Amino acid sequence: MLGVCYYPEHWPQEWWASDAQRMRALGLTYVRIGEFAWSRLEPEPGLYAFEWFDQAIETLAAAGLKIVIGTPTATPPKWLVDLFPEILPVDPVTGRVRGFGSRRHYDFSSADFRREALRITTALADRYGRHPGIVGWQTDNELCCHDTALSASPAARTGFQAWCRARYGTIGALNAAWGNVFWSMEYRSFDEIELPVGAVTETSPSHRLAFRRYASSAVTGFHDAMVAAIRARAPGHFVTHNFIPMHETGVDNHALAAPLDFASYDNYPLGRTDLLMADRPAAEFLPVMRTGHPDMGAFFFDQTRGLSRQPFWVMEQQPGPVNWANHNPRPAPGMVRLWSLEAFAHGAGCVSFFRWRQAPFGQEQMHAGLLRPDNSEAEAWPEIVALAREIATLDPATLPVRPARIAIMVDVEGQWLGEIERQARSYDYTSVIFAYYQAARALGLDVDFIGPSDDYIGHDIILAPGWVSPRPADVERLAASGALVVLGPRAGAKTPEFTLPDGLAPGPLRALIPLRITSVETLRPDCPGILHWNNAQFPATIWREYPEPPGPDIAVIGRYEDGAPAILRHGDVIYVGTLSDPHFLRSQLESLCAERGIVTRHLPEGLRLRRRGALCWAFNYSAAIQTAPAPAGTEFVLGGPEIPARGVAIWREET
Ligand code: GAL
Repeated sequence: MLGVCYYPEHWPQEWWASDAQRMRALGLTYVRIGEFAWSRLEPEPGLYAFEWFDQAIETLAAAGLKIVIGTPTATPPKWLVDLFPEILPVDPVTGRVRGFGSRRHYDFSSADFRREALRITTALADRYGRHPGIVGWQTDNELCCHDTALSASPAARTGFQAWCRARYGTIGALNAAWGNVFWSMEYRSFDEIELPVGAVTETSPSHRLAFRRYASSAVTGFHDAMVAAIRARAPGHFVTHNFIPMHETGVDNHALAAPLDFASYDNYPLGRTDLLMADRPAAEFLPVMRTGHPDMGAFFFDQTRGLSRQPFWVMEQQPGPVNWANHNPRPAPGMVRLWSLEAFAHGAGCVSFFRWRQAPFGQEQMHAGLLRPDNSEAEAWPEIVALAREIATLDPATLPVRPARIAIMVDVEGQWLGEIERQARSYDYTSVIFAYYQAARALGLDVDFIGPSDDYIGHDIILAPGWVSPRPADVERLAASGALVVLGPRAGAKTPEFTLPDGLAPGPLRALIPLRITSVETLRPDCPGILHWNNAQFPATIWREYPEPPGPDIAVIGRYEDGAPAILRHGDVIYVGTLSDPHFLRSQLESLCAERGIVTRHLPEGLRLRRRGALCWAFNYSAAIQTAPAPAGTEFVLGGPEIPARGVAIWREET
């Protein structure tokens, strides 16, 4: 259940066999290769050079490794760019072509690129689709990383116009849907439609939303074709993709994952924590600088599991300092093991390290590997040795991942809305979701993530704060779920065309809770108002909605400082009109859990829990010893009741 990312093309062929043997000796099973090797696989147009790749595959397979091929489409070679310069994307902010010299320099709308990408993918799948050493495929690499979802190329404009024609049918319908009478933005034909970039001031939000949707569908269309080409030629092999968080790409990960066997995630907890907490005071950052935020990895493990409802993979796991964050500290001793065990607790089927050996050349020279460039073992090595032993005993593949009783809805459209229409600089959809997630984790709860069109059955509590433009059919299914539902703020705030709903927000969600939001204000986070709830005071900040005084069947359960209703409840549905702080979120969730008989705990800072199978796994991110919250006499399968700093304990839990 462990693997590694390997680049045979970076190393002398004489090293491959000993590398493979060392991988096996370390306890690794899987090896991913090939995802950036296009210039070596096809050095001249149409001239494939597969022999070295054959050799690499034979060598790795001979050592007993199972191979995952990464298709190389993230790195179009120079000759391809020169033959078809229009495959290059255009930066939507600067309007400049994003040229050759790094990676991801292609435009999802380019027919030339789609054809060429399909050609190399097909050639690889033809050659290796029935190879016994190969078990699976990774498509491309981190689709849309480096802000590549949106391109302002001529191909994107033509593609967008065609997409608009298909969606709206007539230009009159488009003008009406987008409200183009505003500021004389009306078009006379689809050919006139511009991309929503480069205008004097903000472009229409409906236009921008349509462009996001188009771009996301272009990515999905590109990807679907690659998956289909592999599937047709590689029977019995799995197909996956290494996702990065949706808020980093702006693409609908649920749609992207649809044709895959399972989703994979690239876990860089220190890099992501550094970026997340760049503006936080040192006192807050220091405790997590070398461990990562204790909810960071888990937040995306759970989301990745939610994409495919299967054991997901961690395709890339940080093994030491990375090279791409603002600052790149070394992980605290024990953390590489901890992060890896945590992935298994959250349902991973495999954890694969990035990368085998640190590269002494190129852009990532400062990025650690399991080995140093001189072949000596880097710091994480002994942790992987221990991990391999532990995983062999634990055998997580035999531990089913049970549905969690709490689910959070994650909706790409909510994220798009939050980015397109800011209204409050400090409103951020992902932060709203993350705040709920942290509250649940601090209470020791397991969490599932669901998409708006997923199955709602089986969850006791569904948190869907920024579900911005719900489809009536999904609302009906949610109503039938029997769950306690938490909505708002911004739930139902827009129609699917990014206009205000008839009868005001929350639009179709009025089927769940009959209220009307009559006014909205936003506040600086350092100038909050007050939220009175459950005989206590909390901040009411950033986003504040004012529902009109409700009818008799709706209870006002929270009020602002002036007595105006802030939180309303109708049966099992609660609408929270504002954002607050972690104390409020924990307190609210605790009371909902009490209603549904879900046991909560107050975990100490830095301690986190997760169940898989009959086991409860505890992760100590803190620098102090923590006591495992396990009943006396518990049987531990790893560690014991005193969990060392950056340590892990696992015990059998009565169910
Ligand atoms: C990932 C990427 C890898 C490598 C790594 C460095 O995002 O997939 O190719 O660049 O980051 O941390």
